[in-house]
Amino acid sequence: MTVEKKYILAIESSCDDTSAAVLCNNKVLSNVVAAQEIHEQYGGVVPELASRAHQQHIVPVVHQALAKANIDKKRLSAIAFTRGPGLMGSLLVGTSFAKSLALGLDVPLIGVNHMQAHILAHFIDDVDREKPNFPFLAMTISGGHTQIVLVKNYFDMEILGETLDDAVGEAFDKSAKLLGLPYPGGPLIDKHAQQGNAKAFEFPKPKVDGLNFSFSGLKTSILYFIQRETRKHPDFVKKNLHDICASIQYTILEILMEKLMAASAQTGIKEVAIGGGVAANSGIRERLIGAERTLGWKTHVPKFEYCTDNAAMIGIVGYLKYLEGDFSDQDIAAKARYTIQ
Ligand code: KG4
Ligand code: ZN
Repeated sequence: MTVEKKYILAIESSCDDTSAAVLCNNKVLSNVVAAQEIHEQYGGVVPELASRAHQQHIVPVVHQALAKANIDKKRLSAIAFTRGPGLMGSLLVGTSFAKSLALGLDVPLIGVNHMQAHILAHFIDDVDREKPNFPFLAMTISGGHTQIVLVKNYFDMEILGETLDDAVGEAFDKSAKLLGLPYPGGPLIDKHAQQGNAKAFEFPKPKVDGLNFSFSGLKTSILYFIQRETRKHPDFVKKNLHDICASIQYTILEILMEKLMAASAQTGIKEVAIGGGVAANSGIRERLIGAERTLGWKTHVPKFEYCTDNAAMIGIVGYLKYLEGDFSDQDIAAKARYTIQ
């Protein structure tokens, strides 16, 4: 049987990366991401600047995605875009661009939930990776979100737990900022942690009921710890950077793994998939490999470029929705808050 080829152009603009991708069915032909360096100097994403940068990037990024895929826009079968959740000003740029392109080309428009996309990124065709089997547990860990989701089917998901305050990526970034590291500090904590002793310093873990998370207390305890120690030894952070990073990362990973193990025990599900920027962390990857050995889990980590914000993951959801004929009207509106269930 020959499968009919569908070409989906996908656009992602929920936060600070402008991205466009072209998929042929579940295969990625191109996935272009323009990051916005402007936020670095402010130590976090500035919504107004993000929106303006999306406006500057979107046309060249879409052109590049089409050129790399070697697909003329007339051959596109549908336009998929991130409807939410995210920063409203950023979402509006992608939403209005997608709407006008779909209207101009007279092809279906498909609104996509960004959090669903982080999970369904696992269904992008990748020769090196097996796709998860339903039902599985997905842990989405990024700068904006921390969720454990029971995935019963492509579009049947239930949030089992989520953060009550900061996202795990924020915990990494805010801790890094306290150590004087540039934004985003998550990858730098990871790098320094690899040379440090994870048991050198102990930070308290929050007590949160059920499968929910909390990370704001950790940030405060790190702040007090650094203030206390630098009062005694002004160059404490510099001298102990590796050990501090390793200890912070250890605490964060303990929090994540405890909840993930509780979710597995509660549901009896041993197939676990992670996604989002923090899934790039080398420590979480090691922990999951360990859990395959010790707990009999089957774990899935997408390719790095499909972990961080990208349009390819929006494209795979676009394709799955295309197969179901689940199209959006031209009056669809972006949603800053948009749950997956
Ligand atoms: O998914 P993502 O690119 O954007 C959001 O939707 O937020 O995630 C970005 C987050 C940032 O907080 C960044 O510090 C974190 O992912 N991150 C990491 C690593 N790589 C990226 N955190 C820890 N270790 C890493 N290797
Ligand atoms: Zn994201």
